[in-house]
Amino acid sequence: MSLTTISRTAETSAPIHEVLAERWSPRSFDSSVEVPSEKITAALEAARWSASAANTQPWRFIVARRGTTEHDTIVENLMGFNQVWASSAQVLIVNLAAIAAEDGTPLRWSQYDLGQAVANLTVQAHHDGLHVHQMGGIEVDGLREAFDIDANLEPISVTALGVLGTPEALTSDVLREREVAPRSRRPLEEIVLVSA
Ligand SMILES: Cc1cc2nc3c(=O)[nH]c(=O)nc-3n(C[C@H](O)[C@H](O)[C@H](O)COP(=O)(O)O)c2cc1C
Repeated sequence: MSLTTISRTAETSAPIHEVLAERWSPRSFDSSVEVPSEKITAALEAARWSASAANTQPWRFIVARRGTTEHDTIVENLMGFNQVWASSAQVLIVNLAAIAAEDGTPLRWSQYDLGQAVANLTVQAHHDGLHVHQMGGIEVDGLREAFDIDANLEPISVTALGVLGTPEALTSDVLREREVAPRSRRPLEEIVLVSA
């Protein structure tokens, strides 16, 4: 079987929305294909319209297109293999969570809210024919310094967004293997602790 024909579709015990079943996190992005600005805007709009605790909207984003110094700076602040594969993503987004509200009240759910916003962004992007790969392996202090990030904002992750490439385009054997490895999940019986 060719590397490119391996199914990435989620196996589920009941049908789920196509976008959710087909979404996965690739490492190979085709950097020769432009991502239309409207699709980037649509993804950010999906994040903007997420639910958040008391509608505090504690998410902030640094968005950098490939070919800009900002994109290069984000790549420089990725850890390990992330730096290798993510440089080909057309867009890199630093996801930041506010720590406290303007009056100093701690935003207890801000990382939860940010995660939900990034999930919505991911679903919209996939719906628009793009792929997304989130990364927690980032140099927080490096990003903070490079973008002069406010002390009230915490860089949590970076999202790679772009057009899917082929596994063969990846330069490392390890990355190619990961790209086509079977996708797996814990069974529902393990994650649903009580189902009354
Ligand atoms: C918060 C978070 C951090 C992640 N960090 C990394 C990372 O640093 N590098 C990486 O290659 N993938 C990273 N991932 C991707 C996960 O490994 C991936 O989502 C998981 O293996 C499930 O695969 P799937 O998204 O293809 O279903 C991260 C995902 C999330 C949500």
